[in-house]
Amino acid sequence: MIVLGIETSCDETAVGLVDDTGRVLGQGLWSQIAAHRPYGGVVPEIAARAHGDHIGACLDEAFRESGLDRGDVDGVAATCGPGLIGGVMVGAVMGKALAAGLGVPFVAVNHLEAHALTVRLLEAVTFPYLVLLVSGGHCQLLIVRGVGHYRLLGTTLDDAAGECLDKGAAMLGLPYPGGPALEQAAKGGNPHAFDLPRPLKGRSDCAFSFSGLKTALRQRVEALTVHGPLSNAVLADLAASLQEAVADVVADRVAQALRMVRDDPNESSLTALVAAGGVASNATLRARLAALASTWGLPFKTSPPALCTDNGIMVAWAGLERLRLGLTSPLSTPARPRWPLESLAVESGN
Ligand code: KG4
Ligand code: ZN
Repeated sequence: MIVLGIETSCDETAVGLVDDTGRVLGQGLWSQIAAHRPYGGVVPEIAARAHGDHIGACLDEAFRESGLDRGDVDGVAATCGPGLIGGVMVGAVMGKALAAGLGVPFVAVNHLEAHALTVRLLEAVTFPYLVLLVSGGHCQLLIVRGVGHYRLLGTTLDDAAGECLDKGAAMLGLPYPGGPALEQAAKGGNPHAFDLPRPLKGRSDCAFSFSGLKTALRQRVEALTVHGPLSNAVLADLAASLQEAVADVVADRVAQALRMVRDDPNESSLTALVAAGGVASNATLRARLAALASTWGLPFKTSPPALCTDNGIMVAWAGLERLRLGLTSPLSTPARPRWPLESLAVESGN
């Protein structure tokens, strides 16, 4: 079975082709970073137009790389939410048109489900597993019980982890997107140089909060720049301290989720701790999570950075997981700015 996936929910125009052995057959990816950089963040109108302009070339690239013909595809999957609605509509309509034209099933993919299932493309991670989904727009802890079956243990009360890193990086004068730039800048810095807060650390639920951390960093930077710009050494210390604070609270919240699952008689034992989403590419966070998982006797699983950040392959894979269970979507499926993962089981009736 070969499935085509289309991703246009944020600032990546992406197409992927995968088969049911998890082999990536081809992909096309157009990053809009340069278009949004002058504004320091994603501008929805620019994103939607850019998706429309580049989706055709991404499709051509994926097919060229794979050597396949359009007619070899057994199903078309597209992200139908959550995300920036103008962009989501571009990918959803392209996916529906392709499916209709080729006479193959259409699969509406939830972007968060695609992140949560990506790890299974790489290896046979069995259900149930705990997913930490950390990206620019989302910060959640989920139990993945099966395709379409998710329990949300906690989410952020304000910003996502990636947003905190992106905004923090901007305060330090680093280019957009801030996460990777901050990781670079933190190299050689002292992660304990600045005592930044750890919001919600130790709380008995699995919620996250990052706005206080952002404010604390802003106050530090303002105080340090009264008499001139930051030196490279201080910048590295600030970047490392912010990265450390984020890794610290995220690891604390994951540990809390592991305790909650262990103490809940209705939950089965987890098979793994999985990290997904763009921020999961961060090496400091990965190391922290791997150490945590090992103290719990759990394998830690994640994907290479190119599969953590948004891509078309994860959408194709989620589509394939759904298709092989017979789960398809009508062409009337709407594009949605918001689409909670927990609603999927009810919608698909599985
Ligand atoms: O999953 P993703 O590509 O898009 C969303 O669905 O939001 O995640 C993008 C986020 C951005 O906030 C970006 O700064 C962050 O992931 N990110 C990183 C790294 N690479 C990407 N954050 C920290 N370290 C990285 N290496
Ligand atoms: Zn994403």
